[in-house]
Amino acid sequence: MKYDVQRIRAEFPSLSVTDQGTPRVYFDNPGGTQVAKRVMTRMMDYFTTMNTNHGGAFITSRRSDALLDEAHQAMADLVGATDPGEIVFGQNMTTLTLHISRSIGLTLKPGDEIVVTRMDHDANVSPWLLMARDHGLTVKWLDFSPETYQYDLSSLESVLSTKTKLVAVNYASNATGTVNDVQTITKMAHAVGALVYVDAVQLTPHFVTDVREIGCDFLACSAYKFYGPHQGLLWGRRSLLETLKPYKVRPADDAIPHAWETGTQSHEGMAGTLGAIEHMEWIGTEMGGGGASRRERIVSGFNAVATYERTLCARLISGLLNIQGVTVHGLTRDVDLSKRVPTVAITRKGVHPNKMAESLGNANIFVWDGNYYAIEVIERLGLTDKGGMLRIGLGQYNTADEVDAILNHLERKSVY
Ligand SMILES: Cc1ncc(COP(=O)(O)O)c(C=O)c1O
Repeated sequence: MKYDVQRIRAEFPSLSVTDQGTPRVYFDNPGGTQVAKRVMTRMMDYFTTMNTNHGGAFITSRRSDALLDEAHQAMADLVGATDPGEIVFGQNMTTLTLHISRSIGLTLKPGDEIVVTRMDHDANVSPWLLMARDHGLTVKWLDFSPETYQYDLSSLESVLSTKTKLVAVNYASNATGTVNDVQTITKMAHAVGALVYVDAVQLTPHFVTDVREIGCDFLACSAYKFYGPHQGLLWGRRSLLETLKPYKVRPADDAIPHAWETGTQSHEGMAGTLGAIEHMEWIGTEMGGGGASRRERIVSGFNAVATYERTLCARLISGLLNIQGVTVHGLTRDVDLSKRVPTVAITRKGVHPNKMAESLGNANIFVWDGNYYAIEVIERLGLTDKGGMLRIGLGQYNTADEVDAILNHLERKSVY
């Protein structure tokens, strides 16, 4: 069954919107993807047929609770967990990380150490720096190589010790696109007794996620990066979610995951997240190997998407490398394409990234420029005072024609 990008595109109402007859090219995907029809249907259905609060003795509440349970189960299937109690919904990845970092902090004492990285989005750095400030912890930094855009795992060895209590690491970079070997990092961290918190926000839109295979303790992501609504998600190991003390109000449920789901949640966001997962299942069934279980269909869907995106990414990177003065800040070799997501950051000699972004924006080609909160990455690459990088982020609905359009635009240096 072949990947049919036009069929995929038909699932996204926003892709047919034009501005004075000019189509929109969405390469701003790492900042947030467009939303699939199934997401909207689920949300509309929630509002129409079951909109209410938890635990009522009436039909809307019973329906709502059943749907939210299903959303937890579907999300467990997405990340490769078996236990829906391990899925915590929340406002976004940043808020969930700040939330749980307070509870993890309560278990630590002055002199304990944590490891954060120079490659992470700040949402997986600042919460831990704040925790370190509040509890007198020592912060160690894992660097990456500005030549290979990867971590050198021997340098992880040198920052780990028996005092290390937590390693916070990104699965895929929102700047360079590098996919990290979080499985090995987890093994190394566990060998010294540290917990591992994985930021998978930029991985989950592109590749299969499997928390059991990784072996980590927590993994966070955001549905609005994988074609769903603005909704954050945290998977945590049951034994940890049950023993850590959530900051919560007294009447709220003590059982997981609800103990961690502070206040009234975005029920429509959870319904929409379920829709986003059903969208991936649909791709798996229609354009991948399918499968008997939801997890199998999800995996088939991601495999189909990953194969397609890889071809598109190769086309983009080879085109960019042919443009004079362009540097691609990330892995570029064909053989390395499975070690990166199709998020491609560039600079061009003599041109400010914002100038390029504006010029592309005027042509209705949407890209991000600046630091996208990956402030450590931009600093490490020496680009803080230079406007950061222009980021072209491909997704499952982008086409080869769109890639050619951005390459053509960038080639014509006279336009900016
Ligand atoms: C890698 C990464 N981590 C974390 C975040 C923050 O996610 P959220 O907006 O859900 O807080 C982002 C957002 O762009 C991101 O790219």
